[in-house]
Amino acid sequence: MTVTIERARLADIEGIVEVFRDGVKSQNTFCHLLDLTEGVLNHKQIQFRSAVEDEGEVLFTWRHETGKIVGYIWGIIKRPVDTGRVGQINELVVATSHKRKGIGRQLFQSCIGWFRSQNVQRVEVNFNVQNPEASAFWAQMGFKPFFETRFLEV
Ligand SMILES: CC(C)(COP(=O)(O)OP(=O)(O)OC[C@H]1O[C@@H](n2cnc3c(N)ncnc32)[C@H](O)[C@@H]1OP(=O)(O)O)[C@@H](O)C(=O)NCCC(=O)NCCS
Repeated sequence: MTVTIERARLADIEGIVEVFRDGVKSQNTFCHLLDLTEGVLNHKQIQFRSAVEDEGEVLFTWRHETGKIVGYIWGIIKRPVDTGRVGQINELVVATSHKRKGIGRQLFQSCIGWFRSQNVQRVEVNFNVQNPEASAFWAQMGFKPFFETRFLEV
């Protein structure tokens, strides 16, 4: 199978949003994250457009040989005032039909390569700890706990 990992173009956004929809449905089976309303999907279109156009962000896609996008990773560079440049992985999603084939790992490695090329020495990710596949994946990639977010319904 010919694998293509490449920087996303504006023409890819529709395919990326489809993978995002799949990722939200998958995430919602572990713990409800959000509803796929028109407003959410429109907002994602805007965010992905910015990820393609902003030089401080990167969006890589993994494309099946049929041309269909089945995974993406979105990273940004944060510039806190007190430390160096920090890479933030905002989203990594692989379509349910293609999980456990090494695609997440390949997308992650592409993103890390880009962060290194941008002089980033520390990379952070936030994910839902109630999602066992995300927890297992990020532990396997070597990420260690740092901050913890807790919530209370009010
Ligand atoms: C998390 C996610 C991106 C992993 O992608 P993937 O392509 O299936 O992962 P890979 O095949 O590259 O897995 C790499 C390693 O991570 C670990 N891993 C991944 N999924 C796992 C699972 N469900 N259970 C246990 N370990 C898992 C394994 O060690 C795996 O290596 P192995 O298959 O050789 O054992 C994918 O499950 C996903 O898109 N989930 C929904 C969205 C999400 O939760 N994203 C993360 C938050 S940003």
